[in-house]
Amino acid sequence: MCNGIEKAILGVVGSLVEYPLDAETDEFIINEQLRIKPSSEGIMKFGNKRLKDFEEEYESSLNSLVSKGLLKLKDNFYELTEEGKAIGFDVRNQWLVDFYNDFLLRSAESETHAIFCEKVFGKNLCQYNVLDMEQLDTMLDMMNLQPNQLVLDIGCGLGKITEYIAEKTGVSLIGIDNASKVVEWAQKNTKTNRGELSFQVGDLNKMEFFKEKFDAIIAIDSLYYVKDFNRVLQKMKEILKPDGQIGIFYAQGRKPKESLEKINPEKTKVGLALVENGLQFDTIDFTKNGRGVLVRELTTAQELEVKFKEEGNHDLCQQRIVQSKDQIQRIDKKLERRYFYHVQKTTNNAFFLEEEKN
Ligand SMILES: C[S@@+](CC[C@H](N)C(=O)[O-])C[C@H]1O[C@@H](n2cnc3c(N)ncnc32)[C@H](O)[C@@H]1O
Repeated sequence: MCNGIEKAILGVVGSLVEYPLDAETDEFIINEQLRIKPSSEGIMKFGNKRLKDFEEEYESSLNSLVSKGLLKLKDNFYELTEEGKAIGFDVRNQWLVDFYNDFLLRSAESETHAIFCEKVFGKNLCQYNVLDMEQLDTMLDMMNLQPNQLVLDIGCGLGKITEYIAEKTGVSLIGIDNASKVVEWAQKNTKTNRGELSFQVGDLNKMEFFKEKFDAIIAIDSLYYVKDFNRVLQKMKEILKPDGQIGIFYAQGRKPKESLEKINPEKTKVGLALVENGLQFDTIDFTKNGRGVLVRELTTAQELEVKFKEEGNHDLCQQRIVQSKDQIQRIDKKLERRYFYHVQKTTNNAFFLEEEKN
């Protein structure tokens, strides 16, 4: 239905509208220096890397997307229709798979990245998250996993955290991730003398497992890629044993004009979907820990920049520098909070209890 350039446009517009909108000026706020209007010029400027090769067909492709009912044009600004949104989501999903297959694999093979993780997290588990060992060990203490139990790790990445959990608790784990090269790496480079470890290519939005298969499910910084939170949480509930539990690490942001309430634990996308599914949960606010990790990521990436460059992996540390600077600012402006959700399937009484770590 769409050709390459059309798909790229839908993906770019889908990414653009994720940024906070300044309704007075019709601009999406990308960062302090960059604001973009969803006009023809604005979309090209924002998506330049992906769109510049198609410059000649660009205007006619915008028109074609409007006539196909995938984009709407109003006052010179473009907007995705519902159908356009769905295609844009799938396009961005594929970009994400390509990104993770490349970025995580090079991280796993990089000596400098191993030093980086030791310094930032205290242990090299090839982390691409803001999960320090205190958070990880708190999750394991709270979940009290027992040998012989079966655990699903959703969005497991390179599987080193999955391996750590198997070694520490003796449980068996299945890790799923939709980045196939990452899964292949995990299969080849993890092992445990306790329990069993296996990895599968799988999309967290389309999980297919038997009902009541797992004693526990964990999702560490992977639910950012959920299409429909209610459906994914419903599926997690379905494949969990009756007395099973779920551990989720998730950070939620808000736009500057949205209320602080939006980042309360029960109001995040995860919190709302848990309540909707009648799942009982406790939360721990780990924003302070997350911020600590980000500060260490920033300083360590800057310290190791030359080494990363010499290795041919300059982008691995540039990415961390840009991302951590931005996220520290957002946390300091109270625009983002990070939570651990501990969910129990059994009780009907949905309630939450927040332990303030700050
Ligand atoms: C931020 S990384 C976290 C990886 C790992 N849980 C960790 O903490 O190190 C997010 C992971 O989610 C995976 N992912 C993204 N979208 C996904 C999807 N739709 N289905 C399954 N995995 C997905 C990515 O490939 C990536 O490995």
